[in-house]
Amino acid sequence: MEDTQNIDIRSDIPLLNEVIYLDAASTTPTPEPVVNAMCDYFHNFNANIGRGAYKTAVKATMKFENTRERIAKFINCNRNEVIFTKNTTEAINLVANSLEFKKGDSIIVPNIEHHSNFLPWLNLKKAGVNLKVIKTDKYGVIDIGDIEKAVDDTTKLITTTHISNSIGSCQPIYDIGDIAEENGVLYLVDAAQSAGHVKFDVKETKADFVSFPGHKGLFGPVGTGFLYSKSDVMDKLKPVNLGGGTVSKVTEDDFTLESAPGRFEGGTQNIAGVIGLGAAINYVENVGIENIEKHSAKLTKYMFDKINSIDNTICYGNPDNIHGILAFNVEGINSHDVAKILDELKDICVRSGYHCAIPAIKHIGADKLGGTVRASVHYYNTKEEIDILAETVEEISKFAGG
Ligand code: ALA
Repeated sequence: MEDTQNIDIRSDIPLLNEVIYLDAASTTPTPEPVVNAMCDYFHNFNANIGRGAYKTAVKATMKFENTRERIAKFINCNRNEVIFTKNTTEAINLVANSLEFKKGDSIIVPNIEHHSNFLPWLNLKKAGVNLKVIKTDKYGVIDIGDIEKAVDDTTKLITTTHISNSIGSCQPIYDIGDIAEENGVLYLVDAAQSAGHVKFDVKETKADFVSFPGHKGLFGPVGTGFLYSKSDVMDKLKPVNLGGGTVSKVTEDDFTLESAPGRFEGGTQNIAGVIGLGAAINYVENVGIENIEKHSAKLTKYMFDKINSIDNTICYGNPDNIHGILAFNVEGINSHDVAKILDELKDICVRSGYHCAIPAIKHIGADKLGGTVRASVHYYNTKEEIDILAETVEEISKFAGG
């Protein structure tokens, strides 16, 4: 196998000496340079941002805003198009709750979404919005023709995840972007599982909104995320979290909103986390997103082939169209039991169950065994770790059917 892991990052992540960490899709362990950037804030300039005029506060503000610049360059947009949130869920809810939908509007969403990109839209049914749920194929992939058929005069927004968190399947986000553009409808892409894993240029997607986690592929700390909102559509969003930092003028009768993105970032922000996220983007860029993508693609394929070759296992997704994530089951054994045994025997950390995507798990028929076992990789994972996973699954599979 070609060596695609030519930069050592394992020494930056002490947890990797203790366990085989195969749960990047949930969150990634935070590397030392990111922790150090946050410690630097706490030790040396721990002040609030955008408020104080004293030097320490100005320094904190500059470091915080520097992350916005780093992100904007990284995803190819303007700094004012980046809104900080605490996670991807908050980013999507911000769009769903800030756009004005009227009775009879429709939203198109595939049936394999994480609940975070499903419930905010489902909730709008109460307001008379029609949700068109598109059935994906057996691998959890959208047929672009089905999106084309679903769009009509009532369509207000199309949304899809880029890489499914439950199956790892990659969606045709660029083709969907073309359809959204041709029909003049809004388009939101959920990049929860692709940010930091594959090259992502928001302009290429033609999306109006893209939701990003900071704490997964990007190696930022938990509690960080951001929303890309194209400048042309920013005014369509009505801020729902009003307070400090969101207004430029207030009287006893009225107020004037601050310009974007400040109008969406009410109250004191996760300053240390955002500064850590800036260091994390540097970290990803030092490793190189192309290197990360290549390494994960290779490990994903290797993992699929190894697990799929074991008797009594079921692997989900098309091996040529999954990235970073493998969902599988051992026949007759509950997914949580498989995960617990992997942990007990070899300290292997995988997620099991429904992965906050109940419709997706039902769609692939994995609800019989309490959902799937999900192994997800990043640049720090090795082929040897996948070999240990496969050997241990093989041991477990001897009890299959029981
Ligand atoms: N969204 C995360 C996952 O898929 C937590 O595990």
